[in-house]
Amino acid sequence: MSRLEQIVDLEKRFLLPTYNRYPVGFERGKGVFLFDFEGKKYLDFVAGLGVNALGHAHPRIVKAIREQAAKAIHLSNLYYNEYQGQLAERLCQLSGLDRVFFSNSGTEAMEGAIKLARLAGHRVGGDAKCQLVALEGSYHGRTFGAMSLTGQDKYRKGFEPLLGDVTFVAQNDLAALRAAVSADTCAIVLEPIFGEGGILECSTEFLRECRSLADQHQAALIFDEIQCGLGRTGTIFAFQSFGVTPDIVAIAKPIAAGVPLGAFVSREPFASAISPGQHGTTFGGGPLACRVGLEYLSIVEEERLLENVAKVGDYLHQQLQGLVEKCAATREVRGRGFIQGLVLDIPARPLVEQGLAEGVLFNVTQDTVLRFLPPFMLEEKHVDKAVRVLKKMLGKKRKKQTVPQPADRAIA
Ligand SMILES: Cc1ncc(COP(=O)(O)O)c(C=O)c1O
Repeated sequence: MSRLEQIVDLEKRFLLPTYNRYPVGFERGKGVFLFDFEGKKYLDFVAGLGVNALGHAHPRIVKAIREQAAKAIHLSNLYYNEYQGQLAERLCQLSGLDRVFFSNSGTEAMEGAIKLARLAGHRVGGDAKCQLVALEGSYHGRTFGAMSLTGQDKYRKGFEPLLGDVTFVAQNDLAALRAAVSADTCAIVLEPIFGEGGILECSTEFLRECRSLADQHQAALIFDEIQCGLGRTGTIFAFQSFGVTPDIVAIAKPIAAGVPLGAFVSREPFASAISPGQHGTTFGGGPLACRVGLEYLSIVEEERLLENVAKVGDYLHQQLQGLVEKCAATREVRGRGFIQGLVLDIPARPLVEQGLAEGVLFNVTQDTVLRFLPPFMLEEKHVDKAVRVLKKMLGKKRKKQTVPQPADRAIA
């Protein structure tokens, strides 16, 4: 049995069957490449589902982890550590918001954000101010609170009852939004760009209306930037690309370059609703994760990665657009920067499998959308390679029929 077959066999016997993995395993990575157990090289357009924004084995991240692991990995939130406050300060400076809570994952960041919005809501409007407004097609995670805000049946089915106070509206439907938000709303929750939902952007007009309704009703506007945030759109927060600032923003994925860390950042009027003991975590905000988080932000700034995301992101968009014009079964390109989707007329999983054979890692979401979440140092030559592979897999568009069809002939 090969090493991969042994691993597959072991997992089959001992893991809960929650994942439908691709038939490949990786041993290590370097920059925008991964290497499997046989040493085959793959160009990575998945980046660990958006986590590996700095690619693999970035020397500064490796150094920070080595140094900090030798000092203290974990201390607990009973005590102070050197880096939690520093990372919170950086996130507040970058977002323009006021206070941070550190969790271990994106889902937990969402849970904390909902709890904070409920506390703040109850403070201004009593028990009745508990209603949540979220979007159809959204994804916020798989714990009960986050799942209750997730507007897709496939994630909710079988787990009911969920939180009962959530109203879903269609993305960018202003009338439905206005009808859903009331004095009893404590939060409007959304991803400015749907990630798992298929790379669909909220319109600026819709985000502005969310902002204005939240203000009018003293509700929290919560943005889930777990996938689209921290640089992926070409600005450090996606909301800066849209020019609408939330009251609370949730982040996770790349913040500690693969060391589990999530956070939500809140404006003071909401942050002040919570007091000691009302929320907490054993692991969140540990010295290792926070030190790496600080290093992540420094690297993004010092290596001018946001500029690269914007520039190469535009190039990626153009090249994908070229595929839509030339290749069969392609419909449209969505997204911006390094969060983009190529919408197909056919299931995308077989293409991902063919991509493995060609040495390029792609990802699929919503069955027919190829999702691109590459590392921030991706170059145009890497885009060219991926596009060549996609072109080969998709084949040419058939020429428009010029010969009269049988039905036409009958009429004629
Ligand atoms: C927009 C969004 N919210 C929440 C989550 C959940 O984050 P995690 O898997 O870190 O718990 C994800 C994960 O993909 C996400 O994309």
